[in-house]
Order: sequence, then structure tokens, then C-alpha cells
Amino acid sequence: MADSEFPAIILANGSTDLAGYIAANKAQIDEQLGAVGAVLLRGFAVPDAPAFDAAVQSYGADNFAYAESLSNAVRVNVTQRVFTANEAPPETSIYLHHEMAQTPIYPSKLFFYCEIAPGEGGATPICRSDILLDRMATETPELLEAFATKGVRYTNVMPADNDAGSGQGRSWKSTLNAETKDAAEARLAKLGYTHEWLDNGSLRATTPILPAVRQLADGRRTFFNQLIAAFRGWSDSRNTAHKSVCFGDDMPITGADMEPVIALSDALTYDLQWQAGDVALLDNYLVMHGRRPFAGKRRVLASLVA
Ligand code: FE2
Repeated sequence: MADSEFPAIILANGSTDLAGYIAANKAQIDEQLGAVGAVLLRGFAVPDAPAFDAAVQSYGADNFAYAESLSNAVRVNVTQRVFTANEAPPETSIYLHHEMAQTPIYPSKLFFYCEIAPGEGGATPICRSDILLDRMATETPELLEAFATKGVRYTNVMPADNDAGSGQGRSWKSTLNAETKDAAEARLAKLGYTHEWLDNGSLRATTPILPAVRQLADGRRTFFNQLIAAFRGWSDSRNTAHKSVCFGDDMPITGADMEPVIALSDALTYDLQWQAGDVALLDNYLVMHGRRPFAGKRRVLASLVA
């Protein structure tokens, strides 16, 4: 599949209704999605968030609700199924990741919709994680083996209140859907997390061992985790990258470990340059995504499939 067009692109003439198109062509869309993990639907009539919501609904899969997720990002709902992709400031890079792979609960697919194309920058980088893993098997086989056998644990410090200045500033109250510390602790225990309360009211939480490699139904394996994002970007007033993730046996993962993996992912990355009205569908198990910094207006909305 390495030579297949990535992303797959389906072009329309500007007046075709996307919801109707998806309803009539779901099998074809799914076939392309299964092969390369990303389908760009361009030139359809998708004027606003409600039209995007209708297109998502016509796909006919269950919604993955942000309120119930353990996502770190601060988000705002626009319609029932549609929300702002990330409230982090324009100059912040969001590096390649599989959505919510740093938690035990993640969506299978993601829809993105460009309502307002960015003035400058603002592409969505996407990278095939199966090809990345194949390259790692050749170039960093021992590291890959360590990830595959040990898994990883993620640690995150969550503020008491939302911090929109961070790409991962969602408060523990919102993340855990808990009003009190007792309720937060009960949810963490259920999920197998360990935790520590910090003096300023924030919460440091560490996941149980999560897989770093995922096997797809057809046998392909992907680098299903948040390691690249963690090592390139997880720094704010509460978190530092190197303390955010370790092997499942608590041994450290180093910047030197990740350097060749990051270089391989850069070489495989395609920058999706948004045009207003574009809709992209990503297979979260097969493809990583991120966000380039931008200037000027940019409005890209998202919707997740359970
Ligand atoms: Fe994301």
C-alpha cells in the first residue's frame, strides 16, 4: 500500500451535497479509508457547521462524545456532533499523534471540516502510521521491539481550571467529569490510573500500561501512541515532555530514542492544505495527525466517531 495515493481525494463540482454523497457512496469511501487511512472530500457544498454535522450523521456511525473522553485538549462544541478542533493559540504546533492514544478510550475515526481556510500556515500534517512502523522495523528494530513488548505509560498534570493557553490545558474536573476530588479519584481508580494531588490544586495522573503498537484487523501494525507529540510538544507550565511518558516498566524513553522515529515521521508526512469547505475523514488507528502553526483566521472543526 506504500505507493497508494495519500490522502485519497474525492473531488466534486461545488454544488454536490456532501451528506447525500456520503450516504450513497459509503462503501467506496470506507474502502479508500481502509487502504490509506485518509480521505479528503473537496469541492462539495458544505457551507457551515450544521452542514458538516449533517454530513457526519449521514456516515451513520456512533458519535464519540468529548464530554466522556479523557482528551487533554480544551474544546468547545458548535453543534451536537461538531466542536472546535483545538483551542490552543495559533503559534502552537500540535505534533503528530493518534487521537487520545494516551488514554484507554479513543475514537476510531475523525472528521475534520475547514470552515475558514487559514491565512498563512495552518495545514494539518498527516502521516501513515503503518508505513512508519515498517520503517522502524528496518531502522530501529530494537526500539520498536521494546515499544511493542513493554507498552508505555503517560503522565499528565491537569489544572484545576481550563487553561486555554495550552494544547493540553483541559482541567481535571472537565477531563474526569468530576466536580470533587473524591469523584475524580473514583474515576481514576476505575480506569487503572495512579495519581497525586499537587499543592496548587492540579492533579498529576499516570495511566496504566497502554499499548504503543496496535495490530489492525488486516494484520498491519501501527505506531499507535502519542510519543512523537509528547517528545516534540508536551511542554507547558505544568508538564515537561520527558516526564510525560515512559516505557511500561517505568524505564525512561529518551530524546535520543525518539530522534530517528521523529525523522522518519517527518519524511512520511503530508501537509493537508485546507480549502474552505474541505472535509477530511481519518482512520485514527492507521493515520496520525497534527496542526501546523498559523497566522490570520482559521476555523477547522472536528467530529469524532466512536
Ligand atoms: Fe488531535
